[in-house]
Amino acid sequence: MTKFPPINDKCPHLLHGADYNPDQWLHRPDILAEDLRLMKAANCNVMSVGIFAWAALEPEEGKFTFAWLDQVMDQLAKHQIYAFLATPSGARPAWLSRKYPEVLRVEADRKRILHGNRHNHCYTSPVYREKVRVINTKLAERYQEHPVLLGWHISNEYGGECHCELCQAAFRKWLQKKYQTLEALNHAWWTAFWSHTYTDWSEIESPAPHGEQFVHGLNLDWKRFVTHQTLDFYQHEIAPLKAITPAIPVTTNFMGTYPGLDYWKFANDLDVVAWDSYPRWHEAKTDWQTAAEVAFVHDLNRSLKQGKPFMLMESTPSMTNWTPVSKLKRPGMHLLSSLQAVAHGADAVQYFQWRKSRGATEKFHGAVVDHVGHEKTRVFREVAEVGEVLKRLDPVVGTSVKPEVALLFDWENRWALEDAQGLKRNKKYEETCYRHYRSFWSCGIPVDVINQDCAFSRYRLLIAPMLYMVRPGVGERLTEFVAGGGTLVVTYWSGIVDQHDLCFLGGFPGPLRKVLGIWSEEIDGLYDDDENYVTMLDRNALGLEGEYRVKDVCDLIHLETAEALGVYREDFYAGRPALTVNRHGQGEAYYLASRNEDRFLNGFYRRLIDKMQLRQALPTELPVGVTAQLRTDGCQDYVFLLNFTTENKVVDLNGGEVKDLVADQVIRGHVELPPYGVRILERSAL
Ligand code: GLA
Ligand code: ZN
Repeated sequence: MTKFPPINDKCPHLLHGADYNPDQWLHRPDILAEDLRLMKAANCNVMSVGIFAWAALEPEEGKFTFAWLDQVMDQLAKHQIYAFLATPSGARPAWLSRKYPEVLRVEADRKRILHGNRHNHCYTSPVYREKVRVINTKLAERYQEHPVLLGWHISNEYGGECHCELCQAAFRKWLQKKYQTLEALNHAWWTAFWSHTYTDWSEIESPAPHGEQFVHGLNLDWKRFVTHQTLDFYQHEIAPLKAITPAIPVTTNFMGTYPGLDYWKFANDLDVVAWDSYPRWHEAKTDWQTAAEVAFVHDLNRSLKQGKPFMLMESTPSMTNWTPVSKLKRPGMHLLSSLQAVAHGADAVQYFQWRKSRGATEKFHGAVVDHVGHEKTRVFREVAEVGEVLKRLDPVVGTSVKPEVALLFDWENRWALEDAQGLKRNKKYEETCYRHYRSFWSCGIPVDVINQDCAFSRYRLLIAPMLYMVRPGVGERLTEFVAGGGTLVVTYWSGIVDQHDLCFLGGFPGPLRKVLGIWSEEIDGLYDDDENYVTMLDRNALGLEGEYRVKDVCDLIHLETAEALGVYREDFYAGRPALTVNRHGQGEAYYLASRNEDRFLNGFYRRLIDKMQLRQALPTELPVGVTAQLRTDGCQDYVFLLNFTTENKVVDLNGGEVKDLVADQVIRGHVELPPYGVRILERSAL
């Protein structure tokens, strides 16, 4: 039996709770007392406390007021509720900005911001770092022995960038360390173009709207530096916590596929991964398409630490207020979307926010406790119901999944690819990854979402949509993967540039050419109204038939060692290969030369799934809009069946027998799922 340990042994249950801001209610002790009663009523066992409480903790420089937090922590203890205690660096007191303006961020246009808002401090400023070190140390010293201290919630949603002189100097230093010589940097950035050659390190500036924008190597290295500097700041934040409370796990809350930070670089320094999920349910897109995108991000978060359960640190119990429309979650969606996180490996379901604030910008954001102040609301009842269900899922804690399939979603690749001028302005990288992923979601096949630095050997099928940048060694590793019996799927716009965003010379797809057995001579960008078709060849190896619509991209390739399965129907390249397979060693590598409609992706992957006999969470045909996801400890399997439609759905068990873990009853034959219904099935591990 293999299980990951609970996030903290102190609480070996699934966590259920919310961001809690008692610092906004210090003038209302009656409300604070009521909060604790309501937390129990909502079946909560954890709160994230003090995320933006710096002004309440240090109202004047060097004057600390912990009495209120002592009381909150003690009260939580009395009610057996744990705390993820936050470091408050996400927003700072006004005195700090006034006294030390260097902590204020400088925007790309080189304007220093005024005090206000949040998530906007300089990551380099020695003063800010020192102030953060002091307050973090005080918090750790004071609460190190507190029984409710479950984990550290570091800052909040790190993001953005600072272009101040301190950051420029740090950037230059980082570049010097990386390149050693200006000559090496000039070559890597191809600065001979437009005479942009640097002759002194001091000439280098971060990208700016009124300065340099078109040196792609610079843009890329700046993004890398921003990740580096943010991580460095994070490491600085956790240093005193790790010294004083080495056994308390640390995390920081990520923002899904936020483009500004390469989250892979953080993974090693987190004890548990956490993320904030705010999908737009009930939008024009169908809910199940939205659900598949959210699933992708859950899988990414689980993959960051090789399958270790993560935390859903924030989600809304009802609606968001920063979206163009504040749509309410329809009845049932809250339980469904919460259990969706658990289905993909979350050991915590938490919300923003516990109690609605009375003023300022988030006063209309969804919360467990509304302005009315009592528990007799639909939202409160649905939250309490989630808590009720989570309580019955103790056996699920620490379980995970070992997918046979992985999809490569790589931040550096995305940065380079989206910066590239060419092909089409909107490259649709994320959307393309989602579309490939969806074919597996619909069949209930677990998928890891990895980057190109991850080990490939634990998978049987690797999907690399638009692998534009191929870092050193990756082409070789993918070739080895296929030679050893793996199946690889690569699409158009792959193998174009190296780690510096310099084009591969000698024929695309560069280091992937051998394993794919093709040469890409030209690539055609299609206007939005243009289309082409892929016609499947008779008796092709996959047995795919008919024609499929193509939009946006047609790569014009030549076969080298590959064989064509389908060809273009239209245009001057009619008859040329559009879908190929290359047998290399023990495995196969497919190349999708064009961006094909979903019907193609579903059919194509269905054939691969059958051919490779990839394991489904539930070996059955799932109705549209329903998925099955698996968590297992090797002895018992937990299959989450999730219906993201507004219709009743029936799932055939193909003669199998399972136990409904929540209802505690045995089911034979088939499982019924009401609209937005979810069932958690237990069976002996397959
Ligand atoms: C983010 C923040 C929270 C809150 C929510 C609102 O996730 O971390 O503090 O502002 O958004 O959706
Ligand atoms: Zn700065």
